[in-house]
Amino acid sequence: MEDKLIRGKVIADEIIAELREEVSSLKEKSGKVPGLAVVLIGEDPASQVYVNSKEKMANSLGYHSVKIVLPLDSSQEAVLAVVEELNNDPAIHGILVQSPPPPQIDEEQIILNINPQKDVDGFHPSNVGLVFTGAKDGFPPCTPWGCLELLKRSKVETKGKHAVIVGRSNIVGKPMASLMIQKGVDSTVTICHSRTADLGAEIRRADIVIAAVGIPEFITGDMVSEGTVVIDVGINRVDDETRPRGYRLCGDVDFESVAPKASLITPVPGGVGPMTIAMLMSNTLLAFKRIEN
Ligand code: GUN
Repeated sequence: MEDKLIRGKVIADEIIAELREEVSSLKEKSGKVPGLAVVLIGEDPASQVYVNSKEKMANSLGYHSVKIVLPLDSSQEAVLAVVEELNNDPAIHGILVQSPPPPQIDEEQIILNINPQKDVDGFHPSNVGLVFTGAKDGFPPCTPWGCLELLKRSKVETKGKHAVIVGRSNIVGKPMASLMIQKGVDSTVTICHSRTADLGAEIRRADIVIAAVGIPEFITGDMVSEGTVVIDVGINRVDDETRPRGYRLCGDVDFESVAPKASLITPVPGGVGPMTIAMLMSNTLLAFKRIEN
């Protein structure tokens, strides 16, 4: 089993080490460091964990790191005012507003108001378009980019392979499809979702499955062919009284039944999660280089 695991944590650590070296040499040359601002609205426990990890990683890389926590009942205007301030702050090169925001917030409008040059999430339509058209100067969204990096660094052949993506979100499913058909990656892509008529039939035709549907252990062993590469983006909390915290974490893939058939598989946790943060740090460094040069 061990040799089937794609250890995202190990690969993310490699990327972080590469970034650390580059940042320290840039700092020596210019005296400046990349700045990342992370905005959290409310106190959702999972979002707090993600935001704290992003802040901690930015600090550990020697970035200028700012965490802004706004009250749950914040108005749209209050969030827009914070975004505007960060857009105008020369020490900040990357801005991220943690998703999902509370229901009174129009997320689309918030994203539209982030300076695309500082949109290290790659959610602004301008960056979505640049990545979709294959232009060099966009920001690929961190999670799908992290999945692609996992495939590349695990030496998974993507050229001419059939990638089945389960999930159609703007954060993962849709941009994942756009990255997989890029020149040089060259996969053939099928996008499925929770309403796909015969999901098992689609997934059984896959060489590579990317699960990002947000439903715990939705993809089971009977839906997967022998030798498939399985990337599990899901991080779900499932009630479990036997655990100290009263819940356990699991992916969108039922690891126990899928792993025996997979040729390679990401664990949850320790698979895609650490890669998202590594790619965010990479995009922040990229934003810094573009803005400061
Ligand atoms: N929520 C879950 N994933 C992400 C992400 O990559 N960026 C932001 N801003 N929010 C998220």
